Amino acid sequence: MSTHDRLLRVGMVGYAFMGAAHSQAWRTVNRVYDLPARVRMALICGRDEPKVADAADRLGWDGHTTDWRRLVESDEIDVVDICTPGDSHCEIAIAALAAGKHVLCEKPLANTVEEARQMAAAAAQARADGIRTMCGFNYRRVPAVTMMRQFVADGRLGEIRHVRAVYLQDWITDPQFPLVWRLQKDRAGSGALGDIGAHIIDLTQFVTGQQITGVSALTETFVKERPLPAGSSGLAAQADGHGQATGQVTVDDAAVFVARLDGGALATYEASRFATGRKNALRVEINGSLGTLVFDLERLNELEFYDAARPAAEQGFTRILVTEPEHPYLSAWWPPGHIIGYEHSFTHQMRDFIEAVATGTDPAPSFADALQVQLVLDAVARSAELAAWTEVEPTLAEVAA
Ligand SMILES: NC(=O)c1ccc[n+]([C@@H]2O[C@H](COP(=O)([O-])OP(=O)(O)OC[C@H]3O[C@@H](n4cnc5c(N)ncnc54)[C@H](O)[C@@H]3O)[C@@H](O)[C@H]2O)c1
Repeated sequence: MSTHDRLLRVGMVGYAFMGAAHSQAWRTVNRVYDLPARVRMALICGRDEPKVADAADRLGWDGHTTDWRRLVESDEIDVVDICTPGDSHCEIAIAALAAGKHVLCEKPLANTVEEARQMAAAAAQARADGIRTMCGFNYRRVPAVTMMRQFVADGRLGEIRHVRAVYLQDWITDPQFPLVWRLQKDRAGSGALGDIGAHIIDLTQFVTGQQITGVSALTETFVKERPLPAGSSGLAAQADGHGQATGQVTVDDAAVFVARLDGGALATYEASRFATGRKNALRVEINGSLGTLVFDLERLNELEFYDAARPAAEQGFTRILVTEPEHPYLSAWWPPGHIIGYEHSFTHQMRDFIEAVATGTDPAPSFADALQVQLVLDAVARSAELAAWTEVEPTLAEVAA
């Protein structure tokens, strides 16, 4: 494997769930793909000194800091990778762009449309100086999902009529599960809607090439008060066992909505953290005039394809095992049939980001693309509040990539 001279020194903020997933991808990417730049995992940031020192050691970072401003301003950093909760994305990203750093930011881009607009505007301005931005909608990079997009773009499904998407989890069904940051609006922006609904909004728009224009939504908070947490990371937490202290849940537990897409398709979406037994069930079905595609994250190496152009006697769903070297991202991995997993989507994400930065092209999804997702999230929240059909506001032309 040959890598070229260019070195990209990465600084990452946040070291828990996504911090670990991104670290694994940064560690792996140059060992799997032949890329025009080499990554150095230079600096990691967290607020607790002993914990971030341990994380640096465990996850493979050269140095650590407790001050994200030092990280974004450092002359020793070229790329800032934001893996913190949504309440800090805007401030960190804008400071990093102002310091001339390329930025990869986890989804959802921000907690509000206003913040997302500021971030997209800052990205558009930085782009003039060759600075690149990307938002971490990693599921686009599951090979079967990328392949769905190719099938649709090649016309294999004909005219898209239906999009059916669910993203279901069950990690807070217990009312004693504590009030972690994901259940607080000021920290997370919204609940299931922004956390997992954002993924299926991005994924379906990516696959179909169509954008959501309007929605009619219902949201619900089933458990309105919860014990305060002693500590949390990712989707795990411990309750504060010392007393009866509780706090209000200020986000949705579930969001369901119907939508229209600008190419004429009708769509349904469901995002819930109360789907008992469903751990991380992301499923998408697309029905077109010439066929149907079905993706299920629990079987992420497979794609189901119904080709209505085949003779009637042979019609039926075909299970395509997406592990051939001809399939997206897979030529660098294992021999056919030797499957891949969740973490590979992050390695693919880093591959595309590094390639774009090193070759001076725009990675996708850009901050402008992620702003458009934020506008859909906002329309869903407003629709649920008003109990009315709600149009998605257009992305302002000046920030469109
Ligand atoms: N792409 C995906 O599939 C996916 C999955 C999970 C989470 N996410 C997104 O990733 C982000 C982080 O989620 P997570 O699950 O990793 O959360 P987490 O709670 O596991 O980790 C958050 C990390 O941010 C750190 N942090 C918080 N505020 C900070 C600050 N001001 N300065 C420095 N560090 C700070 C915490 O110490 C912790 O290390 C969120 O935006 C979330 O929506 C994306």
